[in-house]
Amino acid sequence: MKNNNNTLKTLTAAGLLALAVACEQPAQNNLADDSYMYTIEVQQKYLLLPIENEATEVKMQLLVENTPIGEPINIRIAQNQIDYWIPIEIEAYKGKKLTLSFNEAQNARMGFSKIKQSLSYNFAYQEKYRPQYHFSPQYGWTNDPNGMVYHNGEYHLFFQYNPYGCKWGNMHWGHAVSKDLVQWQQLPYALAPDKLGAIYSGCVVIDKDNTAGFGKDAMVAIFTSASEQQVQSLAYSLDNGRTFTKYEGNPVLTHPTIVDFRDPKVFWYAPTQQWIMSLATSQSITFYGSKNLKEWTQLSEFGEGIGNHDGVWECPDLFPLTYEGQTKWVLFVSINPGSPNGGSATQYFIGNFDGKTFTPDPLPYPLWIDYGRDNYAGVTWNNVPAEDGRRLFIGWMSNWDYANEVPTTNFRNAMTLARTLNLAHNGEHLVVASKPVKEIERLRSETISLPNKTATTTTFEQLLNNNDGAYELTFSIIPNGSDNFSFSLLNDKGEELTYIFDIANKALVTNRAKSSVAFNANFAAMLIKAPLTAKKSYTIRLLVDKASTELFVNDGEVVQTNTIFPTEAYNALRFNTDKGTLSIKNVTIYKLSASETAISY
Ligand code: FRU
Repeated sequence: MKNNNNTLKTLTAAGLLALAVACEQPAQNNLADDSYMYTIEVQQKYLLLPIENEATEVKMQLLVENTPIGEPINIRIAQNQIDYWIPIEIEAYKGKKLTLSFNEAQNARMGFSKIKQSLSYNFAYQEKYRPQYHFSPQYGWTNDPNGMVYHNGEYHLFFQYNPYGCKWGNMHWGHAVSKDLVQWQQLPYALAPDKLGAIYSGCVVIDKDNTAGFGKDAMVAIFTSASEQQVQSLAYSLDNGRTFTKYEGNPVLTHPTIVDFRDPKVFWYAPTQQWIMSLATSQSITFYGSKNLKEWTQLSEFGEGIGNHDGVWECPDLFPLTYEGQTKWVLFVSINPGSPNGGSATQYFIGNFDGKTFTPDPLPYPLWIDYGRDNYAGVTWNNVPAEDGRRLFIGWMSNWDYANEVPTTNFRNAMTLARTLNLAHNGEHLVVASKPVKEIERLRSETISLPNKTATTTTFEQLLNNNDGAYELTFSIIPNGSDNFSFSLLNDKGEELTYIFDIANKALVTNRAKSSVAFNANFAAMLIKAPLTAKKSYTIRLLVDKASTELFVNDGEVVQTNTIFPTEAYNALRFNTDKGTLSIKNVTIYKLSASETAISY
């Protein structure tokens, strides 16, 4: 396995340095003497900035009538070629003087002369690898999902967001809402960097009893402000998340020495009448308690000598699930690197929580919620109504090993489907199983059922007419004693994605070596392995959305989420075994139509 030890450190260090510099001084003083000033009178809706993915970053300050708006940001204005355009909404400044001030001279890069006003920007969602039923930002970069909360009839999804380019940086909280976890409407970003730094991951709670004093039922965001130090901050909204006010007493939780001190996830713990925060503290999770979200007391620390420690611990989440009437507590801990399949992945622990301490059950840790390479930093929704009762989850559908390089245009990276979590027994021990939320079934616009088959090798050709790469496959396989069989998605370009059931070695192995256009050796190189227990039959559910595959085996006991970047959509399904025959039953293909139930933005 490639040694990825520096991946996040490099990323974080670069971002922190840039923002630390940015935050030290007033905006105007940041700029070199020969800095380029682009000045216009605002007449149109957008300012379009030409971006080159691999250009170096230049610092940019937006000013309206000579007053700086927000913090300076880092942007890759084109040097040699324009890869895509990033829009900045400027309509609110109509008739006013707007200046972009750069800390480079006018002749430093060709992109400066291409900046232009425009009445429109193409939000058509037709780019080659644009997901049709997964959330992805209209433009720019996303990583972790943040602040998921249900409130007043809406599911909120905030997300780590760079609105100024398709690489990690300038971390904001983007914002989207949905009434059904399927159709997402993107709203203006919710939180932008400030003097305390960039806005890293965190959560939102509904303060029903006004414990913080921001107002009854305030949405309170608890997040990491990241500059040279990582500290925890608050912001609140009294208008269903449409606008947030940062708390003037920020930060509310600091640490003098721990560098990786981030990603607060908070819930109300009724038995002790206090808020509980899980926080990633380098190689452990520290639990804090608070009566008012503003003052926090350390309760306990978890993690020494258990689970995987090959990378930084991030994005914890502690929540209860019941199994056969008994309440168990589950602790999610994302780690990068340290995934069994390289790069980033989310491990979990099952145990008990007494309001202070999490005590894990003895299980064969590390356990992973998804053994694919592309489900990271996922956490669960707060405040889902009791009558719904589901524990709802969403993850980031990428991997720090290559997230900054995936071959998409205008945007980079997407979220997994919203999923329901439950405890299940895999025959050997309890596992956290996950499956797509039932609302996804509303996307099924066309259903094709194929005849059952018993064969050594068989291929179902032409799964869909006009296959646009957004569909779902379900079937079951009875191996009839074979201990090694596979199924593959194929296209006419000779590309394929293969799932191998290596029962003799108790492994479900995904091979995406020939699945995608080449863009990163690490992406294609490795076989992606998940543990598999021998069963008489396997039920398969596979959701494909242009550039992603989410595989759920036996109702989510084993899950693999893997991105793919094929030249054209996969439209054939081949089964194969080296020994004996397979019985393949109930093969059903659902076209998942985004056009009717469209994800509206
Ligand atoms: C996880 C993570 C978090 C951090 C955020 C920064 O992917 O590294 O720990 O808050 O991303 O964007």
